[in-house]
Amino acid sequence: MPRLSTSILRHARHQHPLLPLLLRACHDLDSARNELRWLRKHALKTGDSKSSAPTWQQRFHRLCLERAKGVPLQYILGTQPFGDLEILCKPGVLIPRPETESITTYLASLISSAFTLKLSQRAKGIDESQWVADQKPLRILDLCTGTGCIPLLMHAILSPRIQNLRIAGADISPTSVSLANENLKHNIKGGSLQEKANEQLSFYHADVFSDDHCAGRANHTVWDILVSNPPYISPSAFNKTTSRSVRNYEPKEALVPPQNLLETGEESIRSTDTGDTFYPRLLHIAQQVHAKVLLMEVADIAQATRVVELVLGTRRWEACQIWRDWSGARKEKRKRKRKRKREVILINGSITRVMGEGNGRAVLVWRDGGGKMLGLSERCR
Ligand SMILES: C[S@@+](CC[C@H](N)C(=O)[O-])C[C@H]1O[C@@H](n2cnc3c(N)ncnc32)[C@H](O)[C@@H]1O
Repeated sequence: MPRLSTSILRHARHQHPLLPLLLRACHDLDSARNELRWLRKHALKTGDSKSSAPTWQQRFHRLCLERAKGVPLQYILGTQPFGDLEILCKPGVLIPRPETESITTYLASLISSAFTLKLSQRAKGIDESQWVADQKPLRILDLCTGTGCIPLLMHAILSPRIQNLRIAGADISPTSVSLANENLKHNIKGGSLQEKANEQLSFYHADVFSDDHCAGRANHTVWDILVSNPPYISPSAFNKTTSRSVRNYEPKEALVPPQNLLETGEESIRSTDTGDTFYPRLLHIAQQVHAKVLLMEVADIAQATRVVELVLGTRRWEACQIWRDWSGARKEKRKRKRKRKREVILINGSITRVMGEGNGRAVLVWRDGGGKMLGLSERCR
């Protein structure tokens, strides 16, 4: 982060004596002002009635000092918005990112639109409520669930339309599983999730790399849709590209996959320093649980390309797409600017469509009717 000029610091101090502290953690004065407001509100509402307890002003000062040290705002305030949900955040569990919110919302919107279309076509002439009741459950599994943000948002978006849902999230960290369960209760209590989420959503402890992993644990050996935002940052990128706040305060094991081959020589170090460890395993699990759709979050377009190469190598998937950060954005823009060209890239001789705006963020693959589930029809060519 660039050093702050004396004039900006003076200007900030003039506005509020604690603002210079927040400028150390924020990129600009506007963000620092917003954070000042939120921290003040938080200090006011988290008081203790005991006479020996610190006053709200003392608490406010302490919170600003913590933030100046780089403690993420979400760990201080204890929450992060994710769609219409309020996700509780705690040290030891990764804070949900807006890019994950964007791809989750886009996936859920595709499923929801395709379901509505199918409903309107099939239900013509028959009793719609009977058709809905006869539907098999839609089963969605999220591996590496963290706070549970992905399954929770999928349920919030899908449950008003799709009655019969089974959604689960799994994580290796017991702290994550317990926080995901807290998030389920918190959002039902706050009215952002329907009561039925209690029966339709569950979280459990599992290691993706153990054979005793996901399928049986939530009483389903088959999952229609598999989603995962796994640890995907290489050790060198973790040291070079992540912010001080991420490195010092967020759990490294949520971001960097285990580097099993590190001690076997220099060549292995180079080949494992990619952050790609989870993807072959996710493709293998998708096979085991007969998933028709698999969405994997990635770091950038280079990693997306490597993941598509892996997918093509399995010869088990009908089609794949790469999604950028704001996956729904291109569709919206296209409505305004009809002539826009489709973005495609050639990977190992196969044309792969790239959706949305921003950085490469996810790889979507499907087969066996998975395309219909999402209202998508293209094939790998
Ligand atoms: C990048 S975070 C994603 C968290 C959450 N899904 C989100 O999008 O905010 C990765 C998560 O994977 C979990 N994890 C790491 N290794 C794992 C493993 N072997 N099996 C299952 N979960 C794992 C971490 O505990 C962490 O919660």
